[in-house]
Amino acid sequence: MTDRAAVLAVLDAVTDPRSGQGLATAGLVQGLVVAEGRAGFVMEVPARETALYAPVRDAAEAALKAMPGMERVSVVLTAEAVAAPARRTAGLSKAATDQGRPKAPVPTERPAHVKRVLAVASGKGGVGKSTVSVNLAAALAARGLSVGVLDADVYGPSLPTMLGISGQPAYEDGAMVPHVAHGLKAMSVGLLTKAEDAMIWRGPMASQAINQMLTQTRWGTQEQPLDVLVIDLPPGTGDVQLTLIQKTPLDGAVIVSTPQEVALADARRAHTLFDKVGVPTLGLVENMSGEVFGTGGAEAEAARLGAPYLGDLPLDGALRRAGDAGRPLVAVDPQHPASERFRQIAAKVAQSLGL
Ligand SMILES: Nc1ncnc2c1ncn2[C@@H]1O[C@H](COP(=O)(O)OP(=O)(O)OP(=O)(O)O)[C@@H](O)[C@H]1O
Ligand SMILES: [Mg+2]
Repeated sequence: MTDRAAVLAVLDAVTDPRSGQGLATAGLVQGLVVAEGRAGFVMEVPARETALYAPVRDAAEAALKAMPGMERVSVVLTAEAVAAPARRTAGLSKAATDQGRPKAPVPTERPAHVKRVLAVASGKGGVGKSTVSVNLAAALAARGLSVGVLDADVYGPSLPTMLGISGQPAYEDGAMVPHVAHGLKAMSVGLLTKAEDAMIWRGPMASQAINQMLTQTRWGTQEQPLDVLVIDLPPGTGDVQLTLIQKTPLDGAVIVSTPQEVALADARRAHTLFDKVGVPTLGLVENMSGEVFGTGGAEAEAARLGAPYLGDLPLDGALRRAGDAGRPLVAVDPQHPASERFRQIAAKVAQSLGL
């Protein structure tokens, strides 16, 4: 019998590098699920310390796996939403953020020759937003659409890794030429600056950089417009995210969540944020669904919010490995069951966007 107290004791034998305490004592074991032969929990750490905690996550997984009778283990490392500075930006009054839509529309410039702009968002980090962005983009491309991906995650740009691209984009006639990988046009804040620099960006600076990537990249041409641009937004629901979604001309948003209550509450906040600025939520996606964390949480949450439910994606090592190797699973293994899920989600998204 797998015993909760025994699991906590094993986790407390793994040291939190910051406090020197055991993981459980340090409060790093959240959403713990213990059942016959399996255990899983969420470890939420500050966004800039995810690298420090990656080996701790691995150590916790190894310790749990070594328990007698333990068959399945999952430790999900997520980044706390970064606390935004208490600062209001121009065009974003308190009244505008507190009630309904903004009073004075913030001027936004639509990117040239781009038909639809889709945001992929999550209330918290580490739930698989980038994995969904890249694979959803690949699944949309598999429908014959011309697709671009813009990595706007100033806290942790991961598109270069997930698509296997590097190097500053070329300039042509004053516009940036996007990299092309696996049939997707791609631009990332990670290509324009070192990741460490990106982390310290805040509100106006971040939205300015993103606006540049949006409007100064040659996504399409008059003859060959881009059908859809997928934007991987930074996680969270603070001022940075609000400013970005107000300044970016979005046609819809997809919200990614894991099945746990802790992540769902954040998904709810993300939905509210889009609602306030009049961007339709095209639906919720449940990621890392399955035996360890359960399933169905996001579907119930979507029903509560009155938002469409787009489907669930299994917790599957193949998705992680493909992402780490810079090869979106949908593009390199279209037969994989997870790829089929992405195609089903893409079909619903394309329909909602009128594509
Ligand atoms: N369904 C899944 N099955 C297995 N691994 C997954 C799945 N979804 C995501 N992952 C892995 O979990 C990690 C976090 O995913 P990802 O980077 O896509 O999340 P994110 O929400 O974009 O995180 P961040 O907030 O850091 O940007 C990655 O290592 C990724 O490969
Ligand atoms: Mg990401």
